Amino acid sequence: MIGFKEKLCEYISFTEENLKKYNAHSETMSAQKDLIDAMNYSLEAGGKRIRPVLVYSFCNALGGDYRKAAAPAAAIEMIHTFSLIHDDLPAMDNDDYRRGKPSCHKAFGEAMAILAGDALSVQPFEIIANDESLTAEQKIKIISCLAKAVGREGMIGGQVIDMENEERSDVDEANLRNMYRHKTGQLIAVSCIMGCICAGADEAKIQAAADYGFKLGLAFQIIDDILDVTSTTEELGKPVGSDAEENKTTFVTLYGVEKAQEIANGITEEALGCLEVFGKDAFLTELTEMLLKRKN
Ligand code: IPE
Ligand code: IPE
Ligand code: MG
Ligand code: MG
Ligand code: MG
Repeated sequence: MIGFKEKLCEYISFTEENLKKYNAHSETMSAQKDLIDAMNYSLEAGGKRIRPVLVYSFCNALGGDYRKAAAPAAAIEMIHTFSLIHDDLPAMDNDDYRRGKPSCHKAFGEAMAILAGDALSVQPFEIIANDESLTAEQKIKIISCLAKAVGREGMIGGQVIDMENEERSDVDEANLRNMYRHKTGQLIAVSCIMGCICAGADEAKIQAAADYGFKLGLAFQIIDDILDVTSTTEELGKPVGSDAEENKTTFVTLYGVEKAQEIANGITEEALGCLEVFGKDAFLTELTEMLLKRKN
């Protein structure tokens, strides 16, 4: 059987290939060249590609052909990249560095970065609607849950709580869990859900995948908080100390690094528990454990 690392590389290469394909520069769009350059700059800067990998691995765990999930996988990476471009803007986290390069607004200016994020937030829906591997019913389901995971009840709703919390001194664990469920959990959970839909899964499997995704997302964000104080800019490819600078309350400010790590370990265990429905899929198990131990 093909090993974990090889499979992970295969999923990542397939993601990169498709992102290139979907963003190929059309000659008829020469007037929008700067916009396309800004979108591709952030998309091609790298990143761990965790969300597309989750789409593929859930599809695969349910016996589906992961290549049929190319459109939703590229879509979620575009949405995630849009969230990062806007997250870094001076009006938000004000971070000048992302994925090992100057942030989109540093390279292209604020207005173009806003527009690149805008374009990356809607192109995914066009890509899914035009896909030729999925059925019409699958596409509608995917578009519906993806839109919900992004909007006011999803990632954007979470970013609002994050922003408003900067002005508060009474942020507690319940608030943080809710904020993380939205700003980070929603895009991770919907990645798992879309993989299931591509494999034709039933509602019970979709629910289990969502439960897993929200737990993974919570642990993922707590580790992100920890890395913001324990890592280096070189290793992370984004500035460290950004949370303190923006007066964020995080699991680290509430509990310290050690306890935050213990909480992340516990939530990761819970996430692994959700994989029982998926026959404790070996790839997903290893991926979950890898994300807990990640260094960037
Ligand atoms: C960063 O996400 C934003 C968070 C939700 C913590 P990733 O850590 O997945 O960023 P990339 O895609 O690898 O750059
Ligand atoms: C990420 O939160 C949530 C997003 C929707 C982008 P952070 O603000 O902690 O992410 P990083 O640390 O800038 O990647
Ligand atoms: Mg932020
Ligand atoms: Mg940020
Ligand atoms: Mg962070």
